[in-house]
Amino acid sequence: MKKIVLLGYMGCGKSTIAKTLSKNIGIPFVDLDEYIEKKTNLSINALFEKHGEIYFRKVEHEAFLELLDSPEKFIIGLGGGTPCYANNHELLKGDNVVSIYLKASIETLFNRLSANKSKRPLIADKNDAEMKEFIAMHLFERSFYYNQAQCAVVVDDKTIDQTVLDILKILA
Ligand code: S3P
Repeated sequence: MKKIVLLGYMGCGKSTIAKTLSKNIGIPFVDLDEYIEKKTNLSINALFEKHGEIYFRKVEHEAFLELLDSPEKFIIGLGGGTPCYANNHELLKGDNVVSIYLKASIETLFNRLSANKSKRPLIADKNDAEMKEFIAMHLFERSFYYNQAQCAVVVDDKTIDQTVLDILKILA
């Protein structure tokens, strides 16, 4: 069964959009971060703190493979960094996958993330100026990987429903 994979930078709206899409098409949604938290019995913050990012990326890769190998059909919401490590970007091109990059501008990401950073270890301790610079640089570095997705949908200035409609057109 084909998996629908949503990817994009932290704060682009992957989980919110996936939940609405899931209701719309009746296919369950699995958030990769939540799956990892259940599997390891640790929060993402605790995983980073206790074991470091390299360990997190290993667990993340294994969890992504597990979900792709499962026989059920579902929507998978990746973590912002998932496509950028362990050759995960190659998995976005598979025949068993429809991968969609939710593309947001630096401005949109900054506005969404500045209000919502405590659960995100990569940005939790940055002030506004540091965060803006970090997002700009990081997004630039990661764009190559995000652009390996089969399709892209721009999310700037759109409601969740509008974005979901764009995704439904891709899936039709
Ligand atoms: C990360 C994004 C997070 C989470 C972890 C690392 C990243 O997921 O996987 O904190 O490297 O961009 P969200 O994009 O769901 O916040």
